Amino acid sequence: MSALAAKHNAINLSQGFPEFNPPDDLIRKVNESLLSGRNQYSPMAGQLSLREVIAERQNAWGRSFEINPDTDITIVPGATAGLFATFQALVQQGDEVIIFDPSYDSYAPAIVLAGGIPIRISLNQDFSMPWELLKSKISNRTAMVVVNTPHNPLGLVFSLSDWLILASLVQNTEIIVLSDEVYEHMVFDQKEHVSVLQIPELQNQAVAISSFGKTFHATGWKLGYVTAKAELSAEIRKVYQFLAFAANTPMQFAAAEFLLQNPSYENSVSEIMQTKRNYFAEGLSQSRFQLLPCEGAYFQIVDYSNISDLADTDFANLLTSEHKVAGIPVSAFYQNPNPDQRLLRFCFAKNNDTLQKSLDILCRL
Ligand SMILES: Cc1ncc(COP(=O)(O)O)c(C=O)c1O
Repeated sequence: MSALAAKHNAINLSQGFPEFNPPDDLIRKVNESLLSGRNQYSPMAGQLSLREVIAERQNAWGRSFEINPDTDITIVPGATAGLFATFQALVQQGDEVIIFDPSYDSYAPAIVLAGGIPIRISLNQDFSMPWELLKSKISNRTAMVVVNTPHNPLGLVFSLSDWLILASLVQNTEIIVLSDEVYEHMVFDQKEHVSVLQIPELQNQAVAISSFGKTFHATGWKLGYVTAKAELSAEIRKVYQFLAFAANTPMQFAAAEFLLQNPSYENSVSEIMQTKRNYFAEGLSQSRFQLLPCEGAYFQIVDYSNISDLADTDFANLLTSEHKVAGIPVSAFYQNPNPDQRLLRFCFAKNNDTLQKSLDILCRL
């Protein structure tokens, strides 16, 4: 959709990346890192200074076990690489991995490349968890269940009670719960992000994936980390050593120093994104689009059934080519999309004038 947006000179609300820069001070620190010669390989697990500041924060946020920066955190070149290494390390030939549709596009191919079999379960019609169906799909072939909270594309968050139900379904098994938490610092209103690492019942089975690309509004930097108890982290590192070996060094030093000097930086991320969500949602309330709840991440799902009966890919194409606003058809996140669903995903992590220009168009439809 980004390529189509460029071709038609459309406002690109499709791909999920911010239009604005990371904090100036962080960029300065990257410059200083580069100029002061921090340009060679980092240790495989990442710079210790960065792992230490992450561990300190995670322990302060409350985790079900004490996060050890030496053994439990691995810095990787973006969440995608962390996901890939985790599937390669913990999924064996023929293992089943349960994922919930709509799902982020890298999961299923990465599972297949690891020799696993993706078992794709659609969320309920109202996007709640299909617990009974999940229960029926768990078997001795299940190696892993993948959760994504806050969710891309839906913008929904997993509650503590969701986690407890999931824990009850996998307890006394060796099933790994892989939680993709790249939007962990974008949660709105009274909602709170609950990490898999906060659930005591899951502590020996949990792997959490984080992304500085999202947290620093710097998706192009490709920097993230994987957190899991030492035994699981050791397996993931065995793969990661030969996947990338190490993530880029100057960004790691800069991130560590920036986080140390800005102990509550992460709170500002939710504030920025909530303001943007409100601006976009308020504007769209004047349109014929119907808005689905957005509790986190930087995506707004809209129902366009009052405007068009076209299938979502056709409507997204038309919106881009004729009206010059690009969004993503939600069917792209499914193995078996519901042909009656009329939903698009818009990314609202954009400057206000971009959002306003798109609103001017969308409100005329
Ligand atoms: C749910 C989800 N997981 C992982 C990623 C990839 O993150 P990274 O850019 O750090 O590889 C994204 C990026 O859009 C995402 O939305």
